[in-house]
Amino acid sequence: MKIIGITQSLAISFLLASLSVTAEDAATPPFAGKTIDFPKAYVYQMQKGEGYETIQKCSICHSFGYILNQGKQNRSFWEHETHKMIEAYKAPISPEEEKVIVSYLAKFYGNDKK
Ligand code: HEC
Repeated sequence: MKIIGITQSLAISFLLASLSVTAEDAATPPFAGKTIDFPKAYVYQMQKGEGYETIQKCSICHSFGYILNQGKQNRSFWEHETHKMIEAYKAPISPEEEKVIVSYLAKFYGNDKK
C-alpha cells in the first residue's frame, strides 16, 4: 500500500471540503419560488347551454382548443368531426350523445344560414 504524506492528505481533505454541497443546497432547485403565468388563451372553455354537459366528453382525449380552433363551421362539418372521433379514435360516445353534441356544436359553433 502506498502511504501519502501529510501535506498531500491535507490537500485532498481541503479539496473534498470545497466540493461538498450541503443537503439544503441540493434540495433547493434554482427555480424554487418562481412562477409562470400562462396566457388566458390556453384555458379553452365551451359555451354554456343545452348540451354543455355532454360536450365535456370531447375533452377526454384533447383540449377544447381542438374544437374551438376550427372556427364556426356548418352542421355537416360537425357531424363529420364528431363521427370521426367515435369511429376512428373510439371516443366513448353513444349515438344519443352524438346527436346532442352535433346539435350543440351546430348551435354554438355553427355558421349555417338561419
Ligand atoms: C378517444 C379520444 C378522443 C375523443 C374522446 C375526442 N377526440 Fe377529437 N381528436 C382525437 C384525436 C386522436 C385527434 C387527432 C389529433 C391529431 O391529429 O393530432 C382529434 C382531433 C380533433 C379535432 C381536430 C381536427 C381533426 O379532425 O383532427 C377536432 C375538431 C376534434 N377532435 C373534435 C372532437 C369532438 C367534437 C369530440 C367530442 C365528440 C372529440 N374530438 C372527442 C381524439 C379524440
